[in-house]
Amino acid sequence: MLPLKVLGFIFSAFGLASAFTTVINPGITECFYEILKKQDHFSISYEVVGKKNTDFIMKNNNGVVIVNRSNMPEGNFGTNAMADGKFEYCFSNKQTFGIVVNFNPHSPDEEEYLNKIDSSSEVKEQMRELSHNVEEVVDHFVFMQSRNNENEEVLLSLQGRVFWWATLQSVALISVCAWQVYYVTSIFKARGIV
Ligand SMILES: *[C@@H]1O[C@H](CO)[C@@H](O)[C@H](O)[C@H]1NC(C)=O
Repeated sequence: MLPLKVLGFIFSAFGLASAFTTVINPGITECFYEILKKQDHFSISYEVVGKKNTDFIMKNNNGVVIVNRSNMPEGNFGTNAMADGKFEYCFSNKQTFGIVVNFNPHSPDEEEYLNKIDSSSEVKEQMRELSHNVEEVVDHFVFMQSRNNENEEVLLSLQGRVFWWATLQSVALISVCAWQVYYVTSIFKARGIV
């Protein structure tokens, strides 16, 4: 289920991961959910831009809080669904300024390959843990990429401003030169020299 309030867009890293970005105003809680089936594994990574904090909670299909982390700039959680249902997770911003949260939910369809492997549940659980670790690394890479994009935007706008300033200066300089040439020429003309 694609969250409607997602403002940012999807970044892809090696076709493995996609991240969402949401802006959370002061005092606001933004919630998203995932429909899971019993035994499904769901995990999520998140990171607040600029190492600002967010409160994160996750509820199971019965609305019971299964994760409650306050004032953290980042996190990574996984859960195995005990029953079918809607699993909700929320980011809250109790601060006086808006925050930008990058998050990357990993739904069970990313683990399809596990069902195709014919091995013990213990091995599968270990593979799941391994893939969870890989996800975490990839997510960090994706978040880093989005950070760089943001920095790049700042840089580009700065460069834009520098460009216009330089253009303005050039125009001013050319105008002054042209006026001087005209002025000096007119003086010489007036004196009958040219
Ligand atoms: C989460 O934990 C904090 C204390 O650390 C508590 O005040 C808050 O009510 C909890 N939130 C939920 C939804 O349980």
